[in-house]
Parts: sequence; C-alpha cells; structure tokens
Amino acid sequence: MITIEAAKALAKRTLSQRRYEHTLNVRRLAVRLAKIHHVDVEKAALAALLHDIAKEMPKDQMLQLFSENAIISGNIAQRLFPVWHGHAAAILARTQYGVDDEEILSAIRCHTTGRSGMTPLDKVIYLADMASEERSYPEAEQLRARAEKNLDAAVLDGLGMTIAWNKQQGKQLDPETLEAYAFERARMLARK
Ligand SMILES: [Fe+2]
Ligand SMILES: [Fe+2]
Repeated sequence: MITIEAAKALAKRTLSQRRYEHTLNVRRLAVRLAKIHHVDVEKAALAALLHDIAKEMPKDQMLQLFSENAIISGNIAQRLFPVWHGHAAAILARTQYGVDDEEILSAIRCHTTGRSGMTPLDKVIYLADMASEERSYPEAEQLRARAEKNLDAAVLDGLGMTIAWNKQQGKQLDPETLEAYAFERARMLARK
C-alpha cells in the first residue's frame, strides 16, 4: 500500500498547485477531526491525500478507467460528472497504488456525495473536503466548528446544505446525497 509520503508526492505531481493546496488542507482538517473523534489518523491522512487524485483526469481517460474496471465501477458513468472523480480516485488507489483497505477506498469514493450508512472515516473525509480551510462560503467556518464538536450533526448539516444549494441553483442532485441525508436524519431522530 502506498505510504503517506508517497501519496503526498503523488498529489503534488498529479494536481495543479491550487488543488494540491486544497488536498493538504483537507488532510490537515481530516487528521484533526480523526484525532477528536477517535478515527484512525493514518487512514484519514491517506484518504485525504488521495481523494482528489483523479479530479484533473480527462473525461475520456476516466471512461477508459471505468470500462477497464467495470465490476468495481458499476454504473458510475451514468451518474453526474462531478461524482465521477471520487470513484475514479478509489479505482486508481486500489489498482495502481495498492490500497486494499475498504474503509479508505469508501471514504475516497463517496467524498463528494456521501452515502447511506457512512462510516466515521467517510464523514471525516466528507467534512474535511467540504469545510477545508480555503473554502470561502459563509457557512464553512461554522461547519468546521460543528465537525469538531459533533461529527454526525455536522454531516447532516453538510448534506442538507448541499441539497439546498443544488435546489437553489436548479442543479441535479446525485441520489446518494439524498439517501445519505435520509439515513443520517432517521438516525438522528431515532436517538432523540
Ligand atoms: Fe473532490
Ligand atoms: Fe476535494
């Protein structure tokens, strides 16, 4: 399995400066959240460093990657384009960088959308990506603070915000985000 140092070097060489800096910010926040919420710090660091590794891959190369790995990529090519890069990154992590840890692969795969039944590591990476330091939307700071206090409540907020933004902008939403929101909300209500 690729080391943390090698994953950092890979991100540096694969991504634009701006996205590399985003990746380092995601790692910083992911490690902080992992420590607070007793999630494996090394897994969080590795998932963070690899999460956007396919973000700048041309569309035809992503399609090629999906068709070469048809079983693990499922019907991803039928889903919205912004969702593809997490799945492509998880395939690269598994097939080219020896990542065989399903928890890490899942966190990379669902970092844009969330999913029904997210693990704590999935939540750490989802929130670290959504609320990383350079994010400038008004609620980012609040979401960061919330994530430190309560991972589940923060993820519900994050998913809810994404759903609201997409609605406002008339954008299509990936069904996994709705499923993730419904799951987390039911879980929250059951606990009350
Ligand atoms: Fe991403
Ligand atoms: Fe990202």
